[in-house]
Amino acid sequence: MTLEAIKYHRGRLDILDQLRLPTESVYISINDTKEAWQAIKKMQVRGAPAIAIVGCLSIVVEILKENFSDIEQVAKFVEEKLKYLVSSRPTAVNMNDAAVKFTALVKKIILETSATVESVKQKIVEALEKMFEDDIATNKAIGQYGAECILLRIGQSGDNQVRILTHCNTGSLATAGYGTALGVIRKLHEMKKLDHAFCTETRPYNQGARLTAYELVFDKIPATLICDDMAAMVMQTKDISAVVTGADRVVKNGDTANKIGTYQLAILAKYHNIPFFVACPTTSFDPCKETGEEIIIEERPDREMLYLNDIRIAAEGIQCFNPAFDVTPAQLITGGIITEFGVFSPEQLYEELKSRNNLL
Ligand code: MRU
Repeated sequence: MTLEAIKYHRGRLDILDQLRLPTESVYISINDTKEAWQAIKKMQVRGAPAIAIVGCLSIVVEILKENFSDIEQVAKFVEEKLKYLVSSRPTAVNMNDAAVKFTALVKKIILETSATVESVKQKIVEALEKMFEDDIATNKAIGQYGAECILLRIGQSGDNQVRILTHCNTGSLATAGYGTALGVIRKLHEMKKLDHAFCTETRPYNQGARLTAYELVFDKIPATLICDDMAAMVMQTKDISAVVTGADRVVKNGDTANKIGTYQLAILAKYHNIPFFVACPTTSFDPCKETGEEIIIEERPDREMLYLNDIRIAAEGIQCFNPAFDVTPAQLITGGIITEFGVFSPEQLYEELKSRNNLL
């Protein structure tokens, strides 16, 4: 068994088929952008950062096999492939963020006076590969800032330890490694400050039970799985110190889209006076949308609710509503948004990124 969701060596990309976890660890090859698009859509790879990384690396795999007649053709090829990959799933913004940044970069590269087809290809390949390399460092910074902030916020000192509730999957399987919200839990564990982690099952796709639980067991982090409808009771009785989740898209006012069920956890956390944190890289920030109302929420097939491993679990004839994400209003993110640059209030994040020149 392994926690390496993405295996990459120049020109070769393999991903762990997450539909087969936790019972089987099987890698599939991604040979072009079409296969990447399918794998993202089918959720063989999932989680906002991992989607963008696999999308971008699939362009590298394809570009290396391609012959171009001039540099404009290379630029057009990359731009079109990026656009195509953005269409795979609508809610997570990271692939879109990569598309905007790399399209701008390619336009700049072809303007260089010495640009040739080979030099342009080389620079694009290096830039896309760097995104994969940078992700682990980003996640480690998120883990460090998040752990420190939680310990400070709840005034832990000496041997006191914390209990964290998390939702969906945000670990090595959703990123290049280490994870975002799960990275914070991992860091607390490394610091010997984690008493216990609770992870939700995350119906209907069960990312919590299938992926997060798998990672927690794999890494020997003390943890307990709960069904989604047990969260209120757990907050009431288990002395939860903080709730930490990931994000698929954070917009200008701090409203945050994440896996369906996140919003109800934020409401419950507020009621129980438990700080609620969102942990994500700044590539999950969308400066083009003002509020959460503008975020497109992906609706997934009914089958994901009606069947478990091909066994029907719901009555024939029933209608389904299967939104994959919901939006947590900024005012419920009471702990803050944990990024690779530090922890900010949701309202502060846009100004902070603007001042760092980090926006598109
Ligand atoms: O539908 P998924 O499995 O791609 O959704 C994943 C989530 O919502 C995660 O919580 C989110 O992407 C954060 S990933 C570090």
